Amino acid sequence: MSHPNIGFLGAGHMNRAILSAILTDEQTNITPDCLSATCQTPEHAQAVGKQFNIRAHCDNAALVHDSDVIILGVKPQQMHDVLTQLSQYNLEDKLIITLAAGIELEDYRKILGDALIVRAMPNIASEKQAGLTALYSDIDLLEEDEALIESIFNSAGSIIWLDDEIQLDGIIALSGSGLAFMFRFMQSMAQAGEQFGFEADELFDILSVTAMGAATLALESEDPSPSFKHFCDKIAVAGGTTAEGIKIMESHDIDTLVRNTFTATIEKNRALKDDLTKDW
Ligand SMILES: NC(=O)c1ccc[n+]([C@@H]2O[C@H](COP(=O)([O-])OP(=O)(O)OC[C@H]3O[C@@H](n4cnc5c(N)ncnc54)[C@H](OP(=O)(O)O)[C@@H]3O)[C@@H](O)[C@H]2O)c1
Repeated sequence: MSHPNIGFLGAGHMNRAILSAILTDEQTNITPDCLSATCQTPEHAQAVGKQFNIRAHCDNAALVHDSDVIILGVKPQQMHDVLTQLSQYNLEDKLIITLAAGIELEDYRKILGDALIVRAMPNIASEKQAGLTALYSDIDLLEEDEALIESIFNSAGSIIWLDDEIQLDGIIALSGSGLAFMFRFMQSMAQAGEQFGFEADELFDILSVTAMGAATLALESEDPSPSFKHFCDKIAVAGGTTAEGIKIMESHDIDTLVRNTFTATIEKNRALKDDLTKDW
């Protein structure tokens, strides 16, 4: 049986990262002939077609016609135009996956009616097949659709299905922006590390490998209910050097700092979304 055709509407950063992941992953049986993409200009389409050895063009109507699954990888502010265009086509039997931050399923349905739409929220580490994609559907999916969605996004890293759409806002803060928050912390560590005479590239490597070590310890833990506190306490033994540093972090109320960081991120996401969809 042939594999379902997957159409990438928009070939920007994220859709290209997923395309690349699918084609790199030997576990999927998705081959270039099942894949196509649309772009806004013929020049971009030609470059994308050549890069991935797939059909790429500027005709969204043809993409929809030829695809069983359509992955919407346009910016949230481009989404209304794209949905208005899609609403003119027959979307029966199509599975639409949208990557857009913020826009909720009920917003899509205002334009697309009862089309089958699933939300996916990857992060930029998908570019290196180390991403996390959160998935949400408010209807029970067919087993084969669920398996197909999982195989697409597993190729870009790990996946997590969410029970509630509101959790996608949390994922944006934890995992999408979360990567940047971790880099910002590493930036401060690198600045603090300069006093020991390291070069910038040495600090970059030391901290990147340290972050990978932390993630590996956490992910490969055999503890049935692992916690970050447990790992922290194991290293920061009472009376020791690390504990002295942690005391400083806590005296500056690191928990409130992080909570406020998340609140600001989520509020901005909601404000952008409200502004974007108010007239849909
Ligand atoms: N980047 C991330 O880390 C990230 C993470 C999670 C989710 N997302 C979501 O993923 C989506 C895409 O983000 P991105 O960073 O990949 O944006 P991007 O790089 O700007 O890509 C958007 C692409 O869509 C194309 N496009 C726009 N309108 C189109 C149309 N009518 N027909 C065909 N193609 C069209 C654009 O073409 P042109 O270049 O020719 O304008 C552009 O290449 C967004 O909704 C975002 O919220 C992104």
